[in-house]
Amino acid sequence: MSGLWKLYQTKNTPYLDIKPSFSGRTVIVTGSNTGVGFEAAIKFVALDAKRVVLGVRSVAKGEDARSRIEERTGRQDVVEVWQLDMLDYDSIQAFARRADTQLESLDVAVLNAGVMFASAEQSAYGWEKTLQVNVISTALLGLLLLPKLKMSRMSGSARPVLELVGSNLHTRITGLDDPLDGRLLKHYSACFSRSQYSISKLFMEYINIGLADRAKSEVTGKPDVLVLSVSPGLCRSDLGRAYNTWYSWPAMWAFQTLFQRSAEEGARMYVSGTLVGVEGQGGFWHEGRLKEPAPLVAGEEGKVLQRRVWKEVMDALEGYVSGH
Ligand SMILES: NC(=O)c1ccc[n+]([C@@H]2O[C@H](COP(=O)([O-])OP(=O)(O)OC[C@H]3O[C@@H](n4cnc5c(N)ncnc54)[C@H](OP(=O)(O)O)[C@@H]3O)[C@@H](O)[C@H]2O)c1
Repeated sequence: MSGLWKLYQTKNTPYLDIKPSFSGRTVIVTGSNTGVGFEAAIKFVALDAKRVVLGVRSVAKGEDARSRIEERTGRQDVVEVWQLDMLDYDSIQAFARRADTQLESLDVAVLNAGVMFASAEQSAYGWEKTLQVNVISTALLGLLLLPKLKMSRMSGSARPVLELVGSNLHTRITGLDDPLDGRLLKHYSACFSRSQYSISKLFMEYINIGLADRAKSEVTGKPDVLVLSVSPGLCRSDLGRAYNTWYSWPAMWAFQTLFQRSAEEGARMYVSGTLVGVEGQGGFWHEGRLKEPAPLVAGEEGKVLQRRVWKEVMDALEGYVSGH
């Protein structure tokens, strides 16, 4: 009961809607045709960004989102719709290449596209799809966009930002299985459970730390790019679509009404996350503050797990990204 009361209180304490200027800056938001990503894209446009790229798997849905963003913000010729399917490495590579060649600079990239499946399905690469999208493909896109973000820093703009979208649910995972061959990604890809989404977001935190490390300048050791994981908190979106059956609809409706913030309120965290200083490098931005590392991210055990999962993901991506 106290958990539900806490959720109710959280829902009724919205984050501050801060409004920094993104004038002159170019922003990418993936998975931005709906939900929190869509609301975040609206914010970046309304806050004067020069270009906002919607990375979407359906261009038709993206075009529809573009019209709605233009209508709501009154700004034309800012939003672009680019195809991106996080289940297809060719599409991810093409997207990153396009960013490299067609964008003058890249100042903020929000890797928001994410999924929560109700049952196990395999991707074309043999991984369970929640892990494929939320972890492996997010790592690939982050790695491929990092050089462009770094270059944008060198061309004199403010420190560019790479946001991964995390979830506080990752903090609830307090123990992992110990597979015989030691391969965690392979093990959790084969053993789908109700915790799959939370586990994917834990593994994504390990990717966040790995990318944060690679974002450091080789000369100064300081971050050229701010890399962090931001959480929108519990909010209304299409994320639970796989669980949306007609018989669960009344319960879902009651839960959403009582306990979930709006997607717009969630998107406020993506904006405030861009202002976190270097102390946030590789950290988790939640409820307007940098949260203490989760049990399986903290300490020596966290370091060991991070290295293991990072290596497994890099092995999985071998041949798709160079220079890691
Ligand atoms: N809502 C919450 O309470 C909550 C809490 C914590 C974290 N999050 C995280 O916030 C992020 C946004 O989720 P949301 O709540 O806004 O959910 P959502 O409404 O379901 O939006 C997810 C977005 O990701 C896109 N996407 C899914 N699979 C994709 C793929 N293979 N390739 C490209 N795009 C893909 C979806 O596109 P389609 O519409 O084409 O499927 C959609 O645009 C996710 O990373 C989620 O894990 C959400």
